[in-house]
Amino acid sequence: MAVAVCPGSFDPITYGHLDIIQRGAEVFDKVICCVMINRKKDPLFTVEERVALIREVTRDMPNVEVDSYRGLLIDYMHKKKANAIIKGLRAVSDFEYEMQMASINRKLDPGVETFFMMTNNKYSYLSSSIVKEVAQYGANVDDLVPPPVVQAFKNKFPLD
Ligand code: PNS
Repeated sequence: MAVAVCPGSFDPITYGHLDIIQRGAEVFDKVICCVMINRKKDPLFTVEERVALIREVTRDMPNVEVDSYRGLLIDYMHKKKANAIIKGLRAVSDFEYEMQMASINRKLDPGVETFFMMTNNKYSYLSSSIVKEVAQYGANVDDLVPPPVVQAFKNKFPLD
């Protein structure tokens, strides 16, 4: 069985992430969407909140599992006996950082392969950071994130 892990901060999940997860799930037997710690980022949502949101929006995808892990991605890959990592690439600007991550993961275990998927053009500008930036001012983010995430923003940033 070909198991792929789709790792990320998912702070929070956007339609861009969801598109990658959905398409990955058509290619692999199982996709584990794993919320991980990116030490360069200061998250808005807790790991538990992020996991709950992903679970809710992937509920109809039978071969998608949701999990979290606070250690190294490569250790998680071993734990799950998975040898494929899937990541979305939006633009050239993503490339350097993603290439660096794929290279260190390959160095740590050459048996684990990273697969890049081109993000759907309509989401190429989308990132969790940009959505958080506009959502905190109460802007409409209905086209950018699934309804449970819209609600989660409303709870985080209540309008007075
Ligand atoms: O969505 P992001 O923030 O681009 O995802 C990056 C993430 C969380 C996948 C990356 O930081 C990661 O793998 N963190 C776990 C720790 C680890 O394995 N670090 C070495 C590879 S950079």
